[in-house]
Amino acid sequence: MLTFKKMKKTALVTGANKGIGFGIAKHLGLSGWRIIIGARCPERAEKAIKELQSIGIDVAGWVNVELADESTLQQAAKEVNEKYPELTLLVNNAGIPGDMSVDSGHTELCDIRETVEVNFIGTFMLTQALMPLLEKNHGRIVNVTVPSEISPYWHPLAYVTSKAAQNAMMGVMAMEFQQKGTPLEIFSVHPGPTTTDLNGNMALPGFHDIETVGAKMAELINDGRIHQGEFVELYPIVKED
Ligand SMILES: NC(=O)c1ccc[n+]([C@@H]2O[C@H](COP(=O)([O-])OP(=O)(O)OC[C@H]3O[C@@H](n4cnc5c(N)ncnc54)[C@H](OP(=O)(O)O)[C@@H]3O)[C@@H](O)[C@H]2O)c1
Repeated sequence: MLTFKKMKKTALVTGANKGIGFGIAKHLGLSGWRIIIGARCPERAEKAIKELQSIGIDVAGWVNVELADESTLQQAAKEVNEKYPELTLLVNNAGIPGDMSVDSGHTELCDIRETVEVNFIGTFMLTQALMPLLEKNHGRIVNVTVPSEISPYWHPLAYVTSKAAQNAMMGVMAMEFQQKGTPLEIFSVHPGPTTTDLNGNMALPGFHDIETVGAKMAELINDGRIHQGEFVELYPIVKED
């Protein structure tokens, strides 16, 4: 069984300037983690940092993470290695919805490309670039995602495809870590329907807010158990009436 070294707990959360990422950063911070904000806009990053620091959270700083731009991701990994060599947790949260208003027959190729580029390829590139550091620190990678299984209630092609690819990445990496005895852990979490900008701040029955989801996510990460290769569902997808 893998063991994880006890060391100063530092987490990089991508897309932490708002939405679920902000909720995760906040509740990890409240539970004692030192937080690095992953964001792609200085003003939005600074605003989140101020808000987190105002409630006593230890924010190490922010790094520029633009998932659609490989050079930014390589630079972000370099910066993290230099400034925060104690990193033990990467939360791959940043993501985009793609066009959720069309069925598969009307989905534009550029929408599929962009959504896959951000949600899968960018997430993969950042994960790969940070893997050596996380391995050295016996760290963890947590992906924020949706199930690969197709829900009867809700199934936008570009989004679901991009997340299914990301889920496959998680499964493959977890299998390899286990088979090779690599001191690294990866698992995925489906937060369930959450009221954020991603869905136009929908607040239907069955939806939760970022506080609830952020707190539950931090609780899961802090539960002291190994979740290698797991797909953890915090809340299920519901029928939107
Ligand atoms: N909301 C839900 O119901 C729900 C359910 C299941 C899973 N999720 C997943 O949860 C994660 C967070 O979503 P959310 O609902 O919190 O959405 P959100 O409020 O729209 O936040 C998305 C975050 O991702 C960042 N982002 C977007 N495009 C990016 C890019 N190209 N490069 C880097 N960062 C980028 C955004 O930064 P900017 O502010 O700069 O745009 C923002 O920080 C996503 O992966 C989503 O798929 C959400």
